[in-house]
Amino acid sequence: MLNLAVFVSGRGSNFQSILEAISSKVLEAQVKSVFTDKESCGAMEIAEKYSIPVYSISNTDKPGFISYKEVSELLLKQQVDLIVLAGFLKKLPDTVVDEYENRIINIHPALLPCFGGKGMYGMNVHRAVFNSSAKVSGATVHFVDKIYDNGKIIAQEAVDISDVGSPEEIAERVLKIEHKLLPFVIKKISEKKVVISENRVIVH
Ligand code: GRF
Repeated sequence: MLNLAVFVSGRGSNFQSILEAISSKVLEAQVKSVFTDKESCGAMEIAEKYSIPVYSISNTDKPGFISYKEVSELLLKQQVDLIVLAGFLKKLPDTVVDEYENRIINIHPALLPCFGGKGMYGMNVHRAVFNSSAKVSGATVHFVDKIYDNGKIIAQEAVDISDVGSPEEIAERVLKIEHKLLPFVIKKISEKKVVISENRVIVH
């Protein structure tokens, strides 16, 4: 059984897709804890509904928030195998990235290595894709390293956007893919079917 920690900042629909894959027994895993940089967000409400402990994190001393040092301690205590960034907007500190090398994944709402990097999140991504006149977009799940959206790509799925009239329409199409792709990759990792081979990742 794979122990997960999920990091979130927003409404939590990707988090929900993981929980649904677990509930329907498609995915053999458990979410041990949820971490967020927010005081409140949709994803936190989902976690509470499922009785999953939620922790708000901050770099500065804020009442009700925990530090990244405490995050590391909790991850260890809860024997977390995999950290999943599901719409988490902050960069993880290098210490956590080192501790969990090749055990942190992120979902990005475009086909990396295009339309990624600092500031490229949420609707910013879809607006950039729309303005670029690209005919396809999609979702990417990748390992997390110390640079934004830079780690090795695990899985991608593309969607035709040649007929869209707005960035919102792109977001809608991409989100549908995200909800399948993220649980798919977690399942493959839980089955030990994700293998890193030099600078590529093979999914069996
Ligand atoms: C998703 O599009 C994710 O890829 C991006 O932010 C959005 C989060 O959506 N990083 P949700 O909170 O999972 O609903």
